[in-house]
Amino acid sequence: MGRTRELIDKLEEASRLEKEEWASLIRERTPEDAEYLFEKARKWQRKYYGNKVYTRGLVEFTNYCKNDCYYCGIRRGNRNAERYRLTEEEILECCRTGYGLGFRTFVLQGGEDGWFSQEALEGLVRTIKAEYPDCAVTLSIGERTYDSYQRLFAAGADRYLLRHETADEGHYRLLHPAELSLANRKQCLFHLKEIGYQTGTGFMVGSPGQTPETLAQDMMFIRELEPHMVGIGPFVPHHDTPFANEAGGTVELTLFLIGLLRVMFPKLLIPSTTALGTIDPNGREKGVLAGANVVMPNLSPVSVRKKYELYDNKICTGDEAAECRGCLQRRMERIGYELAAARGDHPDAAA
Ligand code: 5AD
Ligand code: FES
Repeated sequence: MGRTRELIDKLEEASRLEKEEWASLIRERTPEDAEYLFEKARKWQRKYYGNKVYTRGLVEFTNYCKNDCYYCGIRRGNRNAERYRLTEEEILECCRTGYGLGFRTFVLQGGEDGWFSQEALEGLVRTIKAEYPDCAVTLSIGERTYDSYQRLFAAGADRYLLRHETADEGHYRLLHPAELSLANRKQCLFHLKEIGYQTGTGFMVGSPGQTPETLAQDMMFIRELEPHMVGIGPFVPHHDTPFANEAGGTVELTLFLIGLLRVMFPKLLIPSTTALGTIDPNGREKGVLAGANVVMPNLSPVSVRKKYELYDNKICTGDEAAECRGCLQRRMERIGYELAAARGDHPDAAA
């Protein structure tokens, strides 16, 4: 048995690796190693989740953002982005539609948009929780103060998604302008966990400057944070950003990393992301077969979907995508899985 498989076994056994071990596992992987990994990943996936895939209805409620991350299509410096905000009533309408379709988690995602005040956000969370007490509310609205996170949690928010993007200082600097810092990003994540949110982090695969060593740091940071959810998807260049001409991430490496995450943390919630579905027509199915167990179809009004363009060619933005849930249900059934009609809490954090 080769060294890579020994490392996969060690990861399964000990749930951690040394930095050099992570890097060599990632650098030396072969397609055969990947198959070996995915079988283990599916074994754990089956043990904790059977053939069930959890769903979250994603509401992209604002594409205004005060940040200028070099990879992102809705960065403030992109003058060509057509900006929009949904009204509270429009957001609630998305939830109403979503509830009828069977969603029991609503993810409110947006750029870092100061137009929505702390009070407005708390009110929104309270209103959704009052109308749908059997649903989870997930926020994905960026870096905020401890106090702000705390009050949103008190208002009823259950979960929070904040990808760390990269856990390597030098790499972080390459992807972000000087006013953003990895230290603050990590601080936010530890705060979210401390407050009691089911916390999700993650990173892009194949972002400019990423190496097996920076990925090793990502895996070690995730080990340290012990989040409930980790979302990873390929970097996909956006034409109106400084990274327009950079190469994108691959399906192959994304799947391998999903498998590693499942084997490291067998109960982890791992979405099979829209970005993965964007660079491969069967990407989301492949993600589930590599160990992912969550899909996050779009619930935003079709009229704004094209505008929430973090990267080029994003799927589910046309009229044909009015009903992503049905589409994903068929896709999952074709590979022997089914969508679960539950909130889908982390097994160790169930309310
Ligand atoms: N390609 C892929 N993913 C991207 N994101 C932002 N821009 C891109 C891109 N060009 C991801 C980031 C962010 C999440 C909401 O979308 O990881 O955290
Ligand atoms: Fe959106 Fe298929 S999931 S169109």
